[in-house]
Amino acid sequence: MSPPENNRELHWQPMLVDAASRARIKSQNSAIVWFTGLSGAGKSTVANQVEILLHAQGLHTYLLDGDNIRHGLNEDLGFTIQDRVENVRRVAHVARLMADAGLIVLVALISPFRSDRELARALASASSFVEVFVDAPLEECIRRDPKGLYKKAYFGEVKNFTGISSPYETPQNPEIHLHSSSKEPVEMALKVCQYLERIGIVSK
Ligand code: ADX
Repeated sequence: MSPPENNRELHWQPMLVDAASRARIKSQNSAIVWFTGLSGAGKSTVANQVEILLHAQGLHTYLLDGDNIRHGLNEDLGFTIQDRVENVRRVAHVARLMADAGLIVLVALISPFRSDRELARALASASSFVEVFVDAPLEECIRRDPKGLYKKAYFGEVKNFTGISSPYETPQNPEIHLHSSSKEPVEMALKVCQYLERIGIVSK
């Protein structure tokens, strides 16, 4: 989308307090932890468990969950490729703003396209970006079908469904690869927290 004509005269207003300073008074480093995977793979479940663990350590977090964001900010978007690109773009910008505010931001979004996830990574710039691939085979997601949407997609009642009638591009080099069909959510959440400790986002 190209910007409207009158946006060309905009200037960047410098801010004198930066992301690192805002994070420092929270005794943490800001970060974006981006969970991607098929619907039903367990992104929200693991992200919630990670937030519980971080929150219990007194860390300042926020969880941006695709389903919830689509109830508000992104309620005007559907599931065409174009709408998904816009969905991920907006969430990537919100995540960046929240990381700029010094938070550890958890994002749980199918985010099916590599280029959009790369945009989110590029936007994070000043904060660490951790891509977490919550990987469950499609057959397992269909078996779980927690919201009954795979069944609806199979019968054509839901269009453009990821993995059925809309593509999912698997991450090629995620920081963390979780095999969610063979691991418990808490076990996977601990692995994410250990990684955050290792890269210095949180201390032991
Ligand atoms: S994304 O592809 O644009 O990143 P997002 O994570 O926001 O998707 O939303 C996915 C959620 O919307 C799913 O968990 C599911 O509950 C719901 N949903 C409804 N229709 C679809 C569809 N066609 N494809 C995938 N998810 C859908």
